Amino acid sequence: MDMFVVRGGTPLQGRIRVSGAKNAALPIMAASIMADDAVTLRDVPDLVDVRTLASLLGTLGLLVERQDDQSLQLEVIDNSATVADYELVRRMRASICVLGPLLARRGRACVSLPGGCNIGDRPIDLHLKGLEALGADIRIERGYVMASAKRLRGNRVFLGGSFGSTVTGTCNVLAAAVLADGVTTIESAACEPEVVDFGNFLRSLGAKIDGLGTPFLRIEGVRRLGGTDHTIIPDRIEAATFLIAGAMTRGDVTVENCCPGHMSAILDKLKETGVEITEIEAGSGSTGATLRVRGPQSLKQAECSALPYPGLPTDVQAQFMALLSLADGISVVTDKVFPDRFMHVAELVRLGARIHREGPSAIINGVGRLSGACVMASDLRASAALVLAALAAEGDTVIRRIYHLDRGYEQIEQRLNSLGASIRRVEDCAENVPANLQLTQGVSVPAPHIAVAASVAKTAAPQER
Ligand code: UD1
Repeated sequence: MDMFVVRGGTPLQGRIRVSGAKNAALPIMAASIMADDAVTLRDVPDLVDVRTLASLLGTLGLLVERQDDQSLQLEVIDNSATVADYELVRRMRASICVLGPLLARRGRACVSLPGGCNIGDRPIDLHLKGLEALGADIRIERGYVMASAKRLRGNRVFLGGSFGSTVTGTCNVLAAAVLADGVTTIESAACEPEVVDFGNFLRSLGAKIDGLGTPFLRIEGVRRLGGTDHTIIPDRIEAATFLIAGAMTRGDVTVENCCPGHMSAILDKLKETGVEITEIEAGSGSTGATLRVRGPQSLKQAECSALPYPGLPTDVQAQFMALLSLADGISVVTDKVFPDRFMHVAELVRLGARIHREGPSAIINGVGRLSGACVMASDLRASAALVLAALAAEGDTVIRRIYHLDRGYEQIEQRLNSLGASIRRVEDCAENVPANLQLTQGVSVPAPHIAVAASVAKTAAPQER
């Protein structure tokens, strides 16, 4: 296993390009199951999650080939397989996105339930409710969702849940409705840009969908879908992560391939904290806009709530918490999408942040400086928050379990290093921990301090999962 050794304190400077959005690429790859002709997808990042899904699609009769650094070609060569195996599905929750496409195109789907997750409860009841409304027969057996339907029929579907709509659930029901008989209306559909990109992809295959980007979708079923050449939208979460990196290190970073129209809540909140962001080139055609961020000498406190789109995304909640830990005054961060998504709090505290959790909120008492320490990544976006905090901290930080980061950010250390960061990927072993972080070796610490340090370590360490 690898870990990062980050030397903080350098203001980041230079240009960096945002990749295509992981959360658009994954459901779109899955929906290629429904295409009768070849599909080319452009700007698909080379991520562990993309490779995992490519392997799963391989077991489902698709030929998936990377054409060059940026594009993937997918072609169905055998339509008979309907089982998405636990061994692959358990590695990545987004595998559930094959459920709707398999059911719609092959009349049957056996998809392993994705299981537990570090960011909280993640039921799929809304996915199943929507597919049942279209006439699917659904059972849960031996840990698998078993869905079948001779013919899906259009219907009215309501996808609102206690925490808003569902992003991947909307993709699953939308995919199924596209090949159903008659008209389907989806109410309380997710409006995230990734869902819009998913719908536009289906339209380019021949689907008839109205209302994308609104909570009301109208789908007129078609008999078959063809092939397409589709470019994935820029990743608004990655763009936000790079902007926050520039802001937290008091740097001057130019971020290319952004879609500011997808990032209003993010840009608004960053400006509220005193971060200077300017659009220096407008996007055109398939290339996104370019944003320049300049970090202020001091950041202002803010109150943030993660909400469904167009609200602040839950996927930047952790990164904002890292930023606000350096802001003047008291900030509050609430997550209304995943109210238990706070595994990063204890790790940020290890870096010197003053944060305590109150139910679905975290109260952040801004500090003047963070200082390097050994920390542990718990999920993808929490890991990004730790990298940001480490870049701004004084001294060295060791970040363990960075495999979470590789799921969602392509070569993040190389790209941040091109801006002047110092991030080394090394094997996770004691010898690679910088000497200044190994406080107990060769240092004589009086006994009471050791006892206190041990009890703090016990409460701060995240659960092994
Ligand atoms: C997607 C994103 C993920 C992001 C999340 C919220 C992908 C691959 N992943 O995940 O990065 O954090 O959207 O923007 O696109 N819920 C239910 N019942 C369901 C489904 C969801 O109650 O059937 C709840 C969830 O527990 C959560 C909320 O709805 O509280 C939103 O979840 P959802 O939009 O489904 O997240 P994902 O699609 O899994």
